[in-house]
Amino acid sequence: MKLRILTLLFFFSMHYGMAQQNLNIIPKPESIEMHKGSFTLNKETVIQPNYNLVEAQYLQKSIKELTGLDLKIQSAVNKPNRIVLAHSEIKRKSSDGYELLISNKKFAAIYAKTPEGFFNGIQTFLQLLPLEKKDKISLPCLSIQDDSKFQWRGIHLDVSRHFFPKEFIKKYIDYLAMYKMNTFHWHLTDDQGWRIEIKKYPKLTQVGAWRNGSMIGHYTDQTFDDIRYGGFYTQEDIKEIVAYAKERHITIVPEIEMPGHALAALASYPEFSCTGGPFEVGKTWGVLEDVFCPKDETFMFLENILTEVMELFPSEYIHIGGDECPKVRWKSCPHCQKRIKDENLKDEHELQSYFIQRIEKFVNSKGRKIIGWDEILEGGLAPNAAVMSWRGTEGGIAAAKQKHFVVMSPGSHCYFDHYQGEPKNEPIAFGGYTNVEKVYSFNPIPKELSEEESKYILGAQANLWTEYINTPEHAEYMLFPRIAALSEVVWGTSNPNNYKEFEKRLISHFEIYDKKGINFSKAIFEVTSKVQPAENGVAFELKSANPIGIKYTTDGSEPNVNSISYEKPILVTKNQTIKAAYFENGKAKSATIEQSFFITKSTGKKIELVHQPHENYGIGGSFTLVDGMKGNPSKFGRDWLGFWGKDLNATIDLGKIETISKISINTLSSEGSWIYYPKSISVLVSKDGKNYISITIVSSKEIQEKKGKVVVNFDKQNVQFIKVIAENNGIITDGKPGAGSKSWLFTDEISVE
Ligand code: ACM
Ligand code: ZN
Repeated sequence: MKLRILTLLFFFSMHYGMAQQNLNIIPKPESIEMHKGSFTLNKETVIQPNYNLVEAQYLQKSIKELTGLDLKIQSAVNKPNRIVLAHSEIKRKSSDGYELLISNKKFAAIYAKTPEGFFNGIQTFLQLLPLEKKDKISLPCLSIQDDSKFQWRGIHLDVSRHFFPKEFIKKYIDYLAMYKMNTFHWHLTDDQGWRIEIKKYPKLTQVGAWRNGSMIGHYTDQTFDDIRYGGFYTQEDIKEIVAYAKERHITIVPEIEMPGHALAALASYPEFSCTGGPFEVGKTWGVLEDVFCPKDETFMFLENILTEVMELFPSEYIHIGGDECPKVRWKSCPHCQKRIKDENLKDEHELQSYFIQRIEKFVNSKGRKIIGWDEILEGGLAPNAAVMSWRGTEGGIAAAKQKHFVVMSPGSHCYFDHYQGEPKNEPIAFGGYTNVEKVYSFNPIPKELSEEESKYILGAQANLWTEYINTPEHAEYMLFPRIAALSEVVWGTSNPNNYKEFEKRLISHFEIYDKKGINFSKAIFEVTSKVQPAENGVAFELKSANPIGIKYTTDGSEPNVNSISYEKPILVTKNQTIKAAYFENGKAKSATIEQSFFITKSTGKKIELVHQPHENYGIGGSFTLVDGMKGNPSKFGRDWLGFWGKDLNATIDLGKIETISKISINTLSSEGSWIYYPKSISVLVSKDGKNYISITIVSSKEIQEKKGKVVVNFDKQNVQFIKVIAENNGIITDGKPGAGSKSWLFTDEISVE
């Protein structure tokens, strides 16, 4: 009796163990059941399709690439050694569903109702294969039941800022397929280059696909080269890529930007602008003021373009852009003003809405739908338009409440042009800080929506803007491994509370990346840090993929294997620099992270904000302003708090009466990113937290002169409370990047001495 229980336990743990060790499938399937026994794949194994020859061929080709086994496809086999693709009417939530069975009766089977179901099952099957060439492969018996949660599982690529060759686009599509992503949003046009051949308007690519130089370094540096740069896809290229994607059950959603981000088109055909030009294809990134003029000839031009685009791309949705369209040209253009009058429009925002609605009517007349960035909500949403929410989730929430379909793509979690590791150790990026864990924590359904409204959330998408990405290797680096985290989010099986379990599976995928020659970020091995308030300073907590192995120094020297082993949060009570790295087998496995601390009377103290920072730039919350760490002005990542259209209004409680005579605060300007210095900074102090006296109001001019680093010296005061109010620049004025939109206010570290 006893023996029997032991044996059972042994089997149970063995199978359970196998599931844990070997099955590192991403996205995680809905359910996996391990069974006794194994199935051996060898050169005699036959692939037996039911109807799905295309999928069978894909499976055949993929097995050959991975293992070297060249299997035969045969439609009727009675021998046991086979992989069957069998049509099944199994009940599933969506057409993505499948069942994968590896049976001890010596066969494997994928059951599905649709071609995409088979394809998803094949992707799971391929992840079970070893990463080495072998002629005999033993697979554990199991049964997997699986289905997706979201129908829009998207990844975007901007090919305007930098052009990526056709062969890389195919690779990119394969990367999506591997993780069961099913939508490729191809950003084909923008100010810096028009990348799709349009037969009726050859100048779009003769002129619009080429620029006479590019920005080098970060936008903040404003330096350029003068190298002619460009490229485009012919219609033949596009047909080939669309067919390639179709075989992988990936829909390509093309984006033709309008009415803004149109400079490359206007350089080719200046007659469709307000001023008539001439124009040059954009060299600088950002938001440029020359946009399409909504006159009849322009609509004719755009409709002819869209007609060719719709002939090439069979997607249900056509992306028409709609974001970041300055209204300054429209304000002084007689055509635009006449249009506003004739159509009874209130202002230029309604003119933008008119523009989108007119294009929507045309696209609808061809049996398709439009999707646009969340600015298309402004001035009234076109009747059938879907919204891609990028400036946070608010646009998506508003659209879903109006019963419009939504794809969530907020900068906070879905912008893969943001940093994914310590900015100092990363290639130059747009800004922000969106690491794998942050992506994994995303929930495409905001809590503000009811169950009924949530049905309008089609899914989510990551965006890869390429201002700072000019090679395929760099694009891969930004995509991997964050794509894996997003794939599990949109497949619907992510569990942010168990991130560590995902991380383990993810690390096992690094071998796949190495095998496939994919350049990927190892930032998850990097030591990450968290700072918390502590007695007389802050506690600096360090983490890495493995908790033991972190070594650090506090004297500015490089850490090595003999440096201090990290055990618990490091108490920092004086100015010092901590450097840390993660070591394994005597070798550093990550780049060194470095953090300098500036400890003053405000460090680690209680701080309250009247307005909360925006979700994209507010990871650490109000404590960011008193954490002893100063944000790097050229890398406005996590050390900065960003307020969108709002003031900073902070009150620090020193905990007791202290004698002080100096207060400093940093603010940032990066106009291309719509970040503007505040209009003024007021400093007030109080003994009791009720009655405040004003110390000073720093003017806009002084803030500019001091390049945002404001230091206020004053006669000694005995106080407990300090209030700092930085007044947001407000609506951006005409002639400035982002004109008409709310300004960002970026602030950091309020030091009190
Ligand atoms: C966007 O990032 N401008 C949609
Ligand atoms: Zn105009």
